Amino acid sequence: MSINVERKQFPLLYVHQHSRGVIGWGAHKMVGQECQMYGIKHALLVTTGLKGTGIVEEIESILKAHDIAVTIFDGVTSNPKDFECKAGTEVYLQAGCDGVVTVGGGSAHDAGKGIRIMVENDGVDTSLRDFCAFLDPHYTTRIPTYKVVTIPQVSVNTTTGTGAEGTAFAIVNDEEWRYKLILVVPGVAPSVGLNDPALMRLQPPHLIAWAGMDAFCHAMEPFIGRFNMPVVHGVALRAIKLLSENLRQAHGNPYNDTAMENMAWAQYIASMAYNVGGGMGMVHGLAHMVSVLKDLHHGYTNAIMMLPVERFNSIAVPEKFKEIGEAMGLDIHHMNPVQATDKTLEAIERLRNDVGIPQVPLKEFDFTDDDIEHSVKWSLNDLSREANPRQVNADQVRTIMRSCL
Ligand SMILES: [Fe+2]
Repeated sequence: MSINVERKQFPLLYVHQHSRGVIGWGAHKMVGQECQMYGIKHALLVTTGLKGTGIVEEIESILKAHDIAVTIFDGVTSNPKDFECKAGTEVYLQAGCDGVVTVGGGSAHDAGKGIRIMVENDGVDTSLRDFCAFLDPHYTTRIPTYKVVTIPQVSVNTTTGTGAEGTAFAIVNDEEWRYKLILVVPGVAPSVGLNDPALMRLQPPHLIAWAGMDAFCHAMEPFIGRFNMPVVHGVALRAIKLLSENLRQAHGNPYNDTAMENMAWAQYIASMAYNVGGGMGMVHGLAHMVSVLKDLHHGYTNAIMMLPVERFNSIAVPEKFKEIGEAMGLDIHHMNPVQATDKTLEAIERLRNDVGIPQVPLKEFDFTDDDIEHSVKWSLNDLSREANPRQVNADQVRTIMRSCL
């Protein structure tokens, strides 16, 4: 007689490692030593530019002081594009680089990952579509055919939300498909991520808010998700506690050192929650569609989509929303899970509003019925759907998006 495991929706779960991290004041000064450790002699420095901050110049000078040649590729924009990865690959190969240093937020880190995938395969002729994680055909059936990425990447993170400096996914716009490719390739996670609150406090306050709400979603979605992994629950709840206790203060005064240090930790462990195996949900699934269609910031679109999607999801996991509310410090212990969920969603909305992000209707961004149909079609085959706590079909996605117009 064999043990019956058929009733389990997910009988096997895979726990992944997060990238090495260096966290704390002055962490960015380790960039030269870290590159040396990974054998980088000529770095392609990938960035959006971070103009006016002096950060790129600072990193370049540290690398040069460690006898590391630097070629700068600053052609990355928010929501990094496939053609930007191609241009970066061309520069990498022409300059004869042997490693990547990314400086900035998720756009820089994910562009760096895309460039490494292309260099590792057919250079500028590589189609990133070949590495996209779809549900059908399921991406795990294709991964064994991929070449492992061995080119090192040292990521200097400057934002309070991305997590991409430690994750094994790269999110790159396919401009023709109008879809965010989720690239999952073995070895693509950065070799090390440096998180320095001294750099994070140079962000403008609105970016602290947008990135912070992205981090909130990174913790909330895997915590309530179907993968239901205890290894995820602990870090996710701690991230939610840190974010609810520090995001307002960091947004209100980026030079509040305690708040910014706590944000550095919060964004790091929040990304750990989804990266080690918790997965994402339909907040990210739909936010990706809004940001690719209207070129809006990733964190901002998550903040816009989080409440409509979680109100839909909440009936599947009210007990989880009660735990989130308790982590946020709400006095809801005496309430039943459904009542507690209402209070938790109110508190999340209050946090989002407090940091200057109202529920802006999608019509304000010229979002149309055609955009909704495009979003329905692509989001249903998106990796983010897999861990969503409530089963969701096309009509339900359509209804959620229409409610946001
Ligand atoms: Fe995100």
